[in-house]
Amino acid sequence: GASVEVDISKLEPGQKITVEWRGKPVWVVKRTPEMLSLLPKNDPKLADPTSSVAHQPEYAKNATRSIKPEIWIAEGVCTHLGCSPTFRPDLAPADLGADWVGGFYCPCHGSKFDLAGRVFAGVPAPTNLIIPEHKYLSDTMLLVG
Ligand code: FES
Repeated sequence: GASVEVDISKLEPGQKITVEWRGKPVWVVKRTPEMLSLLPKNDPKLADPTSSVAHQPEYAKNATRSIKPEIWIAEGVCTHLGCSPTFRPDLAPADLGADWVGGFYCPCHGSKFDLAGRVFAGVPAPTNLIIPEHKYLSDTMLLVG
């Protein structure tokens, strides 16, 4: 079908789940208040911090790129050549630089995205991650597509 229902009732703060939609991985991340508070720290280092390139529906065109601040939905597909980036929610990991405050790292050619899927400047990926059409059927049930 064109749409997929996602039960997010068991999604814990800080967790990511992946569902398949149209043959692509779609992520649902429940961001913690700390994760959300750290997002603006990345702005100076991003290629398009305000997501001016339309890679999200109108209702996700905001600072958190989401309908509800904590719940974030995106296609788990690197905008460079289509690898699936890895979830790296850890603060200050040894391999991603001292200023890393959590996000996604693409192992194919090193692109970095923050926890709103916004791409860092100077990496191969040209744009922020794509956010698919979605809506809430209830507090715990999402419809993607
Ligand atoms: Fe992700 Fe190239 S496919 S950096």
